[in-house]
Amino acid sequence: MKHLLSTEDLPREEALRILDTAEDMADVSGREVKKLPTLRGRTVVNLFLEDSTRTRISFEVAAKRLSADVINFSAKGSSVSKGESLKDTAQTLEAMGADGVVIRHGASGAPQTLAASGWITAGIVNAGDGTHEHPTQALLDAFTIRRRLHGAASRGRGLDGVGVTIVGDVLHSRVARSNVWLLTALGARVRLVGPATLLPVGAASWPVEIGYDLDAAVAEAPDVLMMLRVQSERMRDAFFPGEREYSREWGLTDERLSKLPPTTMVMHPGPMNRGLEISAAAADSPASTVLEQVANGVSVRMAVLYHLLAADPRGE
Ligand code: CP
Repeated sequence: MKHLLSTEDLPREEALRILDTAEDMADVSGREVKKLPTLRGRTVVNLFLEDSTRTRISFEVAAKRLSADVINFSAKGSSVSKGESLKDTAQTLEAMGADGVVIRHGASGAPQTLAASGWITAGIVNAGDGTHEHPTQALLDAFTIRRRLHGAASRGRGLDGVGVTIVGDVLHSRVARSNVWLLTALGARVRLVGPATLLPVGAASWPVEIGYDLDAAVAEAPDVLMMLRVQSERMRDAFFPGEREYSREWGLTDERLSKLPPTTMVMHPGPMNRGLEISAAAADSPASTVLEQVANGVSVRMAVLYHLLAADPRGE
């Protein structure tokens, strides 16, 4: 694997290979000494041109657990704030020895541009680009679902027949897009539920069912209820009347939580708007996988960096 840019073009077998490697990495993370020498002498650059807590820090932890050198780069405090281009920034970082570049960018397609341009030869991981994709989030979500369902017997298994309902602001969600492609490739049945204003027109051609009634979706007791963050920072128009209405119609409230069977997993990629798309009780309930998702993110990102930078020195 030379780059990881999206899940739309990630074959099922390749995804399973990453998830199975992540199981091995999780075993390492459970040890007293959590380090492997695998990427000693390699340099990973975290090029974060949009804010992040979970993704940036977990890539840093993942690279360090594999003994790589890590350079953290953000727009604030760098020459990007003086107008330096992506090309010049990336070439500058590679001149300092970057073997892998983990990039988050506000523009959809920026990691693909970097990979296709030939500006640099480093392996590239998309850590979230605009409203397009967030492949490692989808991989850690799939890993979390598989582990909750199958525990120690997860290796080699897909998500065949698992019912996943993704709720809310799909329009602005790269997490939703990456999950649609990955979870369906792994065999899950995916349903999108939200207000019509926040469901992309193009979703009609995706391999999903579409619904508008969260209570009906809850009554169907899906295996997974994935709540999406309302991305106010990407909204220039009014997509719903107000926060109270959103919560009443589309939020996982305490009342809806009480109607879910205990077997339904409640997922959220974070950061959460507590009281808007998810109640505090739902976020903190035993059904919630929010912190498991964060912990699993380290194992999955270790697996991705391993396949990118260590598994095949030819990068194929
Ligand atoms: N889920 C996610 O991408 O969170 P961050 O924006 O904090 O990285």
